[in-house]
Amino acid sequence: MTAFPDDFLWGASSAPHQNEGNNTNSDMWALEQLPGSSFAERSGDGLDFYHRWREDIDLLKSLGLSAFRFGIEWARVEPVRGHVARAELGHYRRIIEYCLEVGVEPVVTLHHFSSPLWFVQAGGWASDEAVDRFGDYVTAVAPILDGVTWVATINEPNMFAVMHQMSTPLQYDDPQAVLARMREAASPVSGEAGINAFTMPEPKPAATAVMIRAHERAREILHDLTSVEVGWTIAVQGLVARSGHEEDLARYRQTWEGAYLEVSREDDWVGVQSYTSQLVGPDGLEGAPDGAELTQVGWAYRPDALEMALRQTWQATGGTPMLITENGIATTDDARRIDYTAGALEGVASAIADGLDVRGYLHWTFVDNFEWVHGYDVTFGLVAVDLVTFDRTPKPSARWLGRVAQANSLTAVAGA
Ligand code: BGC
Repeated sequence: MTAFPDDFLWGASSAPHQNEGNNTNSDMWALEQLPGSSFAERSGDGLDFYHRWREDIDLLKSLGLSAFRFGIEWARVEPVRGHVARAELGHYRRIIEYCLEVGVEPVVTLHHFSSPLWFVQAGGWASDEAVDRFGDYVTAVAPILDGVTWVATINEPNMFAVMHQMSTPLQYDDPQAVLARMREAASPVSGEAGINAFTMPEPKPAATAVMIRAHERAREILHDLTSVEVGWTIAVQGLVARSGHEEDLARYRQTWEGAYLEVSREDDWVGVQSYTSQLVGPDGLEGAPDGAELTQVGWAYRPDALEMALRQTWQATGGTPMLITENGIATTDDARRIDYTAGALEGVASAIADGLDVRGYLHWTFVDNFEWVHGYDVTFGLVAVDLVTFDRTPKPSARWLGRVAQANSLTAVAGA
């Protein structure tokens, strides 16, 4: 069975720091400028999505897709503490209105890894005020969400719980020295590169707790002030035990994923984000197995991971409706991207056939973008971009996914 429900959403995802450009008031921007930080290059102009959003939405629609995930950047809406930039709210409102006008379902993320620099300098997510500050921002954004159904409060809180420690050096007079000490203390897992859950220490209980409180506060505010449906988007890594390590697997799953997915029991929906699958063995989480086909970021090619992630999420949440908010592959070989996506979608169809409530598939990402520490050489996009002219060129995978979306079926489409 490779057909999908009638109202299934087909689209692609993006994030503000990765595509807008010149997000100069954020912690990520500050980190990128810091000599010795992990960033291979600076985000700079991004893809100039800040000015070219209409063009991207038109392109997405013309390809046959009908849902677009983008984010609102806190550092733009509140560039200094307490100052809400009405003009920026107007900017994001225009994007939402345009989506609604042309029939593209907007999926709006309120926090995607980057926070305002002032927030981080005031103690960031470790501060007692973090949840209140985030709540103020969500309250400021609420009025522009009229007509939106899908709102994600925090992207991958289970990754971000660890990541936000990256910006703590910005709280010190000599951030570079602090950064150097943090890098020395880090112990990467072999075979992994860049930002990945498993190159980092586990989320500490306090970091998990603040993510949960921030999400719950945002959910309460959004339910009070708007009619949106609230969820958050979780990285579900398709962890599998080596024989004899089932208990270790259970512990890793609970710390990295279960603690967050349980919160989604009370949500309107949950975002599932999947790229690869990893083993848990005698030394804990393992890198890609020897001989595995690797993507540009060193992750094993595992299209089957998405189905695993859906089934695990369904079980952990007790049946919260799921939206696939990210799935994709970092590759320069677009034929491989089509194969990967077709494989992943077969798994989605099989999960749906078994009764799992999956509402849509949003590919990561729409246009090749700023892939965090890796910069622009890592390409996850359905669409290529010229970083000088900002011209967009759809890849064959974009047209292929558009055809799948139009057919609402994999079988009807060549190359699937
Ligand atoms: C993040 C994206 C990122 C993607 C690929 C997800 O963890 O939400 O921002 O670009 O994975 O690494």
